[in-house]
Amino acid sequence: MRILITSDLHYEVTGHEAIRRLVAGMEREEPDALVLAGDIGNPSRLFEHCLALFVRMNCPVAVLPGNHDLWRSPGETSAALHEELLPAITRDCGFHWLPDEPMRLPGGTAIAGNIAWYDYSARDMEAPATEEQVEEEKRFFCNDANNVDWEFTDREFAARCRKKLTAQCQALEHDPGVRAIVVVTHVPIMKGQMEWRPDDARWNFRNAYFGHLTLGNELKSLGKLHWVVSGHTHLGLSGAAEREGLPPIATSVIPSDYGKPRWVTVEV
Ligand SMILES: [Fe+2]
Ligand SMILES: [Fe+2]
Repeated sequence: MRILITSDLHYEVTGHEAIRRLVAGMEREEPDALVLAGDIGNPSRLFEHCLALFVRMNCPVAVLPGNHDLWRSPGETSAALHEELLPAITRDCGFHWLPDEPMRLPGGTAIAGNIAWYDYSARDMEAPATEEQVEEEKRFFCNDANNVDWEFTDREFAARCRKKLTAQCQALEHDPGVRAIVVVTHVPIMKGQMEWRPDDARWNFRNAYFGHLTLGNELKSLGKLHWVVSGHTHLGLSGAAEREGLPPIATSVIPSDYGKPRWVTVEV
């Protein structure tokens, strides 16, 4: 079973041609499933253009949003994008909207995931700022502050994402028909997916908006969870989260960047 996972295509910057080549490359891999893990295209018209490039894939395609996909534009709100517009565009392409329901594949593999919005748990642990400071400083570090217009605080929306994904994964863990779980999120959720830079206080502070480690900690005890793949930071990291009495979880961050879309492969 071969699952290809990509993210951070940023259609509005990367453009049609580079993504068309990416799709052709993915097609040659003859995958059993494909996941698009957010930051696909903004505004929603470009999200739709980007998804249309994947319609030729001869396998099930699961989609989840990234923070950039939720940036409002005239006539659209972030809440409407997340709850209605992007799910509808995804379904119109014949694809699976992953935040609502995990995708089950033949042979007992299940893919679960959502945006996993950041909850500040990945902020610099050596010089921890208060959550209030992180909230206050956000506009200097992260454009979501100016472009996402819902009423939730980051921690409130993160908690909703966490609750939902944890419940879905626990149901899969207890389902005798499921043998292996692959979790795909936009925001990284495992410590090994984060990069700390010893001499860069600004970078380490900014990690607050690039991780949701509370969620990773909640999922870590699930014995069927063997892979966690995320986007958002564009860093291209891979590693393993060791667990007592359970096999390690392979972790990676997809190495896509603006203009340079990439994918990672999970062999189940
Ligand atoms: Fe991105
Ligand atoms: Fe992102």
